[in-house]
Amino acid sequence: MELSSSLLGTLIILAMCSSCAGTSVSLELPGSSSSQFPDGFLFGTASSSYQFEGAILEDGKGLSNWDTFTHGTGNILDGSNGDIAVDHYHLYQEDIDLMENLGTNSFRFSISWARILPKGRFGNLNMAGIDHYSKVIDALLAKGIQPFAALTHYDVPQELEERYGAWLSPKIRKDFEYYADICFKYFGNRVKYWATFNEPNVMAIRGYRSGIYPPSRCSGSFGNCTKGNSIKDPLVAAHNMILSHAAAVNIYRNVYQKEQGGSIGIIMNSIWYEPYSNSAEDKLAAERAQSFFLNWFLDPILHGSYPKEMRHVLGSLLPEFSKEDLKKMRRGLDFIGINHYTSFYSKDCIYSKCKSGAPGVSRAEGLALRTPIRDGIYIGEPTAVDWIYVYPQGMENVVTFIKDRCNNTPMFISENGLGIVEKPSSSITDFLNDVKRVEYMSTYLESLANATRKGADVRGYFAWSLLDNFEWLDGYTVRFGLHHVDFATLKRTPRLSADWYKEYIFNHKRHASSA
Ligand code: GAL
Repeated sequence: MELSSSLLGTLIILAMCSSCAGTSVSLELPGSSSSQFPDGFLFGTASSSYQFEGAILEDGKGLSNWDTFTHGTGNILDGSNGDIAVDHYHLYQEDIDLMENLGTNSFRFSISWARILPKGRFGNLNMAGIDHYSKVIDALLAKGIQPFAALTHYDVPQELEERYGAWLSPKIRKDFEYYADICFKYFGNRVKYWATFNEPNVMAIRGYRSGIYPPSRCSGSFGNCTKGNSIKDPLVAAHNMILSHAAAVNIYRNVYQKEQGGSIGIIMNSIWYEPYSNSAEDKLAAERAQSFFLNWFLDPILHGSYPKEMRHVLGSLLPEFSKEDLKKMRRGLDFIGINHYTSFYSKDCIYSKCKSGAPGVSRAEGLALRTPIRDGIYIGEPTAVDWIYVYPQGMENVVTFIKDRCNNTPMFISENGLGIVEKPSSSITDFLNDVKRVEYMSTYLESLANATRKGADVRGYFAWSLLDNFEWLDGYTVRFGLHHVDFATLKRTPRLSADWYKEYIFNHKRHASSA
């Protein structure tokens, strides 16, 4: 990848990864020679309860859908699970010290629903769970690190799955509201940033269309499941997620927000879709792809209806919002969290023929082929992670798209980062020298700065992730951490990217305060 040095100067890093003895990489990277982000900008790292905490059944925690799923055979690449994960449940203080060393001023984490309510609203409140997160929140604040909490990051108490099919039932809205209320009540005096969901679009698609995430539901050629309906179920699940979001927002606005003074939003997985060609059809296809992925949730929450592209293609398959629902949804959100990693081309499949079964081409997905490749050339450099192509421009594009469509609602880049894969031949020294990740983050941040300079109201950036952790279907084989974790000993070691991010944040703060 070519690194542009056009930005406001360059930051020369004599990258001496503190722990890679004898290593000295010299990198010339776009840096922050003047303030590119507004004062008070949050620089953080991100995590999630299932991927980090471990302590599967400790202190009264109940089972979640992910606990159950990972214990099924053949679901996870390396046969692993999050029973221990990186033991953040016990090692949180050590991890907060790492954050302090980085100089981050915020930490994104999620609360494990089943740790607070082991059986949803059908059982008791687990006070040990409340105490745990209270301690974590206090420890963060003691170091000047703002807690940024999500109520769910793919996880739901297994009890709710078994009782009524979780997101497929409208009953979940009551459960989510009940749980959100408890979180606001116990933590809201200290947590000022609340996300209702992390990536409900991914939850709906992977849980209910391809069935590769719990509850493993799909049908026909969409996947290999024993139950489900890949066309209808994702739409129903998403509908219940949108109304659960609205229920939580209402409770927050009506009971807590005035007194607690925080804000509440939702975090979306956000892909940038570049039209495959300049044709009007492909441009429309890219818009459709975006509507079937992102606007699917944002439009109802912000504008009270599903996007027109979805209404047009899906017609009566789309669930409807009642008058009562619309009233509840009026309270919208305060910010949009953007998890952005990658971009794809989008090619029309309404007017031209596409290969059936290819990604994006079905009616359920919007009749827009999703492909990383055009005329044999990738949209961006492929990486060790099969869905990440390095296309920094996508960051500016997706942020600007959301800015324009959502009236410049405040945004956070709630995740961005690169996964790497350990080769048996690589030494620990090689493995700490994550030059590719530094290149990736620096160019994506540069692209983000272009968007903010053009007026996008972006208020924070969170690197995924503070540590190597349990990477869902890939288990422990793909590593996203600024810190390496030895999964046998759980020892954390900063990588080059940790040193680089620290320097980046330091420079930003220096220039922000002298501006
Ligand atoms: C995100 C997800 C994270 C993390 C990351 C890297 O979509 O929210 O939990 O796994 O991808 O794959």
